[in-house]
Amino acid sequence: MNSPQLVPGTKLGAPLNDLFGIFFEDINHAADGGLYAEMVQNRSFEFAPIDNETYQPTTAWKLSDPASLKVTDKDSLNIKNRHYLEVNAQQDVDITNLGFNRGMYIEAGKRYHFSFFVKTLNGRKNVNVHLTDKVGNDVAVPTVISVESHQWLKYTADLDGNQTTTEGRLTLKFEQGTHLLVDMISLFPDDTFNHRPNYVRKDLGETLKALHPKFLRFPGGCLVHDGQLDPDDRGSMYRWKNSIGPVEQRPARRNNWGYNQTLGLGYFEYFELSEDIGAKPLPVLPGGYDPHHDREAPIDQLGEWIDDALDLIEFANGSTATKWGKIRANLGHPKPFNLEYLAIGNEEVGQAFFDRYPYFHKAIKAKYPEIKLINTAGPFAAGKEFDRGWKSAQDNHSDLVDEHYYMDPEWFLANQHRYDSYDPNGPKAFLGEYASKANQWYNAVVEASYMIGLERNADKVGLACYAPLFCNVDYENWGTDLIYFDQKEVSPTVNYFVQQLFMKYQGTDNVYYQLKDLPKAKVVDDQPIVGKFFIQGDKARAKFENIVLDDGHQKQKFGSQTVDHEEKIELGSTDATDYTITFDVTKTDQDSKGTHFCFGQQESDKWFVWILGG
Ligand code: AHR
Repeated sequence: MNSPQLVPGTKLGAPLNDLFGIFFEDINHAADGGLYAEMVQNRSFEFAPIDNETYQPTTAWKLSDPASLKVTDKDSLNIKNRHYLEVNAQQDVDITNLGFNRGMYIEAGKRYHFSFFVKTLNGRKNVNVHLTDKVGNDVAVPTVISVESHQWLKYTADLDGNQTTTEGRLTLKFEQGTHLLVDMISLFPDDTFNHRPNYVRKDLGETLKALHPKFLRFPGGCLVHDGQLDPDDRGSMYRWKNSIGPVEQRPARRNNWGYNQTLGLGYFEYFELSEDIGAKPLPVLPGGYDPHHDREAPIDQLGEWIDDALDLIEFANGSTATKWGKIRANLGHPKPFNLEYLAIGNEEVGQAFFDRYPYFHKAIKAKYPEIKLINTAGPFAAGKEFDRGWKSAQDNHSDLVDEHYYMDPEWFLANQHRYDSYDPNGPKAFLGEYASKANQWYNAVVEASYMIGLERNADKVGLACYAPLFCNVDYENWGTDLIYFDQKEVSPTVNYFVQQLFMKYQGTDNVYYQLKDLPKAKVVDDQPIVGKFFIQGDKARAKFENIVLDDGHQKQKFGSQTVDHEEKIELGSTDATDYTITFDVTKTDQDSKGTHFCFGQQESDKWFVWILGG
């Protein structure tokens, strides 16, 4: 028996627009010790137990003589960067940074940019800078920096690797009698992604670009809203204004995933990254509410949070004549970043958020009606809260609503038709985080089939991105991720290749298909058995139009048929052995859950049925 074939019809369905993108959050050391190319861990001695109970100011450093080397904060580099190392060498001393993972990946033939802030307290002094392997042998030509400034000053030097190691270290050596202060000790490879300073690891940046994402959601996740209300608090929520400008003036913050976040990779870099990988930026701002600790800004003090949103839009899109547009230009990007999407809140549970969202919405839409605003429905598992998010989105006319779910593959299979019944006239769904909880072939195939359902429903699903994106293999917070890496290598998962397939080859529009080359009527004793044809809806109502049965002698036209749920409609019959049948499927019922339909042929009391995706 032949298989029926689907061939493109003439009707266009919903455009796919920006459907498939990526979501970056600094979880699993995705930024610090990951995408951010900084090779020194704890470069400004800001690590503290608030980040992680095992941390202290010299975490990741080895001090040869603790009596001569002390972290203090009496004469800070600036008020945002309080701690520094005082070197008061009673003998020749050295400090060594261990990097992330098991050490730094240093390659022969590559150049590394070293820098630090330093001031001498007792005249000109030399600092010897070495890149070594784990037993202290040089793997780059060492350099000497002569420090003579009595004010904090940045010094730089280039180091050329001449041996390769994955367990490299950075060592600074000070001679006896040296008395100076050091801070922001930094090492970057020369070959960052797109050769930008203070930027992204080349291999990881290229891995993102190769996905061809349509958008980049950043910077979190729970990372955004888990924290204190005061932006100057070490444990504050992610406040974007803290993350731009000179890196030494960005305050280190507690990362809720149990480590320290330097904010070296900040909003300006995320906007640049979006541009570099061809993705639209999609920032997520806190809504003045922390659902993890049920902590909220009083409604009459929401102004500063709303201003953060308005200022961010001006920072991204404003002309250089505006305050924030000028700041962007001064950072090196006079052209706007063309921000289109902005999310307020992430996975919010709690009425307090929904009491506050309307204030953001009204203020932003009043000034920037063109910005597509994303409300949040919280984690799917939150049940009722999820409905509250959708209601808020409908009441406020949000453009999109962020849904999150991490479920078993069986759930994804059973819910292929989740979005069939969503209202194309309401806010669109933004599937801002999802995964079927394993990096196995089976899961990847299940995710692919689910993504077909997202494509099919592009009139109801606006955006979708897998989560989490990155995991440093030595610092796993979350079990299933898209891309694994260590200090040297990148290992995209099978799920990555599914995402890539859908992003790289994302179509522009849904196209309705026609059914052709149906199986021929069966011939018994030289007599064809009459072929009877029917269409049967499966759970859904579907409208079939332009149905034509062509057996070579005549074209039988059946006009339009609406198939309601389990109803079976007989179209007609032919005793020809050679025929085609064509039709367009144009509509499905929004209330029903599925859009499967069947095409069948009857042979005596047996039906041969082909189930076609709707
Ligand atoms: O993707 C990991 C986390 O899952 C996100 O931070 C959060 O939004 C969700 O709970």
